Amino acid sequence: MSAVEGLRFAKRIGDIMGKSHDLVELMGLSDAPGIISFAGGFPSPETYPIEDIKETMAEIMREDAAGALSYSSPSGYYELREQIAARMRKNFGLQSRTEEILLVSGSQQGLDLSGLLFIDPGDVVIFETPSYLGALSALKTYEARLVAVGSDEEGMCMDALERAFETYGDRIKLIYVNPDYQNPTGRSWSASRRDEFVAFAERKAVAVIEDAAYAELSYSGEKAKPLISYSKKGFVIYLGTFSKTFCPGLRTGWICCARELLERYLALKANVDLSPATILHRQLSHYLKTRDLDAHIGRVGALYKRRRDIMHEAVRNEFPAEATYSLPGGGLFFWVKLPDRIDSRELFARSVAENVAFMPGGAFYPNAERNCEMRLNFSNMPEGEIIKGIAVLGRLIKEM
Ligand SMILES: Cc1ncc(COP(=O)(O)O)c(C=O)c1O
Repeated sequence: MSAVEGLRFAKRIGDIMGKSHDLVELMGLSDAPGIISFAGGFPSPETYPIEDIKETMAEIMREDAAGALSYSSPSGYYELREQIAARMRKNFGLQSRTEEILLVSGSQQGLDLSGLLFIDPGDVVIFETPSYLGALSALKTYEARLVAVGSDEEGMCMDALERAFETYGDRIKLIYVNPDYQNPTGRSWSASRRDEFVAFAERKAVAVIEDAAYAELSYSGEKAKPLISYSKKGFVIYLGTFSKTFCPGLRTGWICCARELLERYLALKANVDLSPATILHRQLSHYLKTRDLDAHIGRVGALYKRRRDIMHEAVRNEFPAEATYSLPGGGLFFWVKLPDRIDSRELFARSVAENVAFMPGGAFYPNAERNCEMRLNFSNMPEGEIIKGIAVLGRLIKEM
């Protein structure tokens, strides 16, 4: 007898299994031994500053082991919140204060808490599409209706957004966007679109989640002004993370938003996990105090830029000329549109049989249908493997 036979689950689990399964499958595939995987959105483990992490961990344990092993405030370690607020001021010219920062277990927890805070079953969430799979899945869990609004080279299409408001009106509770080196397209929004978009959302009194997971991974050194800096009413909620620039295993991200909003997030977070992993916050805070994170990010960026260029050249050489893409200025992904005749799920099945994985494009839309797009991650494979894997994909595409 099956372990779940006869059990009565919440209705939402039926709705989310599809999206979450994509996510779980993807995380698993990227770990499978012997596979050349362009599927995940993972930083490269060789960039982790392992010696510094070992040393800083030992240092905090020597200083105050009991403190590091205790519960701490649900907001997270105060000193780390101060350091993050200072980094946001320095890097992005924001006026953020420590009281406007809440530490979360990866920005993914920020997405989940946003669902808890804003969404009743049937409420509409607008997604810039294609969109980050983990955000689609997290908000679907709250039985949101996910509505796709397309994007162009400058960001979300404003006329399509206006049409969505004409259709759904005040059933729209949230808009989710990822304006810097977006997952999955690698695109960044222009300054004028940022401005126009925030003014529009605030006029409509709808909260915006600005997922800034890749904001610090720029390969030109340029950093765009975050959406939150255009906000006049405080309706923009910024999600940051150390996962892509430092180590995802520390599970440390943050929410930055107006204090009145943050208090609501905090009340929910205290219910979810009571206290963060104090030891990880203290270790990260000590690292920020005694080491140079910006120098580290500079080295990480140089490696990823090299890998991006190698993948670019391989795609140019191996893919048919009808495949289109643009060069990402940062982040971790190429987004390739294949000829219409190619179903990227079918290509995926064939490439996995040859030990090469990527992410089929359909996963990044709320209601995936047949799709001819693909996402290729370039950060996590050594250069030789990138060349080999892209050659396999190029051959399979040409055969289809
Ligand atoms: C756009 C985006 N947002 C959020 C996340 C979640 O990252 P974390 O929870 O590790 O901060 C990811 C991870 O891939 C991502 O690509």
